[in-house]
Amino acid sequence: MNIIIFGPQGSGKGTQAEVLAKKFNIPHISTGDIFRDNIKNQTELGNKAKEYIDKGQLVPDDLTIKLIKDRLSQPDSKSGFILDGYPRTIPQAEALDRVVDIDKVLEVWISDEESITRLAGRRSCPQCGAVYHLKFNPPRQDEKCDKCNKTLIIREDDTEEVIKKRLEQYHRQTEPLIEYYQNQDKHLKIDGMPPIPEVTKQINEEIK
Ligand code: AP5
Ligand code: MG
Repeated sequence: MNIIIFGPQGSGKGTQAEVLAKKFNIPHISTGDIFRDNIKNQTELGNKAKEYIDKGQLVPDDLTIKLIKDRLSQPDSKSGFILDGYPRTIPQAEALDRVVDIDKVLEVWISDEESITRLAGRRSCPQCGAVYHLKFNPPRQDEKCDKCNKTLIIREDDTEEVIKKRLEQYHRQTEPLIEYYQNQDKHLKIDGMPPIPEVTKQINEEIK
């Protein structure tokens, strides 16, 4: 199964993609996570991407398209994948259509107000990448990862100013994908506002 999950900042793409990846035993491919790994390791790609990510802008299509083509050519994605955060522009979607067939596209919708609330409380593990929310999905022990016991961190692009810019980009550049995938009869809208297990339930009903 080749699945895309997209939606506004904090809609739960990463949270729900993890669940789907386990369910179908397919890789969860997040362009945001790949960029952050490259930033941490100070690669050439990471240094270039950081300039954009820190300002809440999209990384240019040429870099992102190359990255995803390379990733999808790896053997683990041959039996399916869940793409989280790619595509975010029409040219990215067109480039994807030239290399793979997509089965389903999940749009997880939340309001802009909810995005800001969610990202303000998000914490993630610097070691394993596990994502928590201080109120909605708290770690067992105060701000420590349940799996590696590392102190959780706040993502650098999760400041209110940068979140607002990211949301603007989403509405302008990514929302046109709704019509793009409606025209291909692949678009499924999920209400991302309820608690995490309820959103998972809706997704499970759509993707059997
Ligand atoms: P990326 O890392 O993809 O960031 P994003 O799109 O802003 O999305 P987030 O990761 O912030 O949110 P999410 O939807 O995954 O939510 P999460 O599950 O964490 O991209 C970062 C940057 O990289 C971009 O801004 C761009 O610069 C660049 N980039 C990436 N891909 C690119 C591309 N294709 N082209 C160009 N540039 C690209 O959940 C959020 C919080 O809410 C968590 O705390 C979670 O526990 C909680 N939560 C989740 N679901 C619920 C729920 N139902 N109820 C209550 N709380 C919930
Ligand atoms: Mg994410």
